[in-house]
Amino acid sequence: MKIQIINGPNLNLLGKREPGIYGSEGFENFFTSLKQKYPKVELFYFQSNVEGELINQLHDVGFEFDGIIMNAGAYTHTSVAIADAIAAIKTPVVEVHISNVYAREEYRHHSMMAKNCKGIITGFGLRSYELALLSFL
Ligand code: DQA
Repeated sequence: MKIQIINGPNLNLLGKREPGIYGSEGFENFFTSLKQKYPKVELFYFQSNVEGELINQLHDVGFEFDGIIMNAGAYTHTSVAIADAIAAIKTPVVEVHISNVYAREEYRHHSMMAKNCKGIITGFGLRSYELALLSFL
């Protein structure tokens, strides 16, 4: 089983960025432990701060992989183009967030992409990604 994790803008700073909200663990470290815990799953990780690169990655894996776990960061709330890309591909996408977006500012309560996703997991820290992974197993 091939699963792609895609992280959007500012998520390269996990561990350093607002640790009170996003925790103090870097994503690379978490990703290594996730791969060790699920050795039978082929897990891939891509991060970009650039909207078009996120869309290119969705296109690249979206007709071949079994699942995509996507934290589009702030683009979640603004990007028609990412929502359209998710609608265009075949691979199901689970939207994830580290923080509980519904407990935060109102502009974070709306997701442009949610209606094109298989489901949403929000608020469980980095465990949100593991919970999303379990939804594909
Ligand atoms: C986030 C929530 C978004 O509102 C924010 O813009 C992010 C991170 C999260 O994982 O909690 O960059 O997607």
